[in-house]
Amino acid sequence: MSLPDEDQVFNIAVDGQLIPARHGQTIAAALMAAGRRVFRRTQSGAPRGLFCGMGVCFECLVTVDGVAGQRACITPARPGMQIHLPPGEEKVDGDD
Ligand code: FES
Repeated sequence: MSLPDEDQVFNIAVDGQLIPARHGQTIAAALMAAGRRVFRRTQSGAPRGLFCGMGVCFECLVTVDGVAGQRACITPARPGMQIHLPPGEEKVDGDD
């Protein structure tokens, strides 16, 4: 059995735009490396993105392969993954 090469780069699609990711990297890390700081917006339009970086605050929620509410900071990037960043109108539990 061989482990994935950490230097192997693959693409994930973020709202249809391909960005590079590496094995072992989280979705949040790939987004940040690609310069994407805002992952979603609250009902009032306030930007949200990487905050705690360890799965506690739920500020980094994205939709992964059609499954909403996934924490980008603890979800590993996989080749061919389809990520959608929720629009500002979407209500997310915990928003005030
Ligand atoms: S940044 Fe806090 S849960 Fe992801």
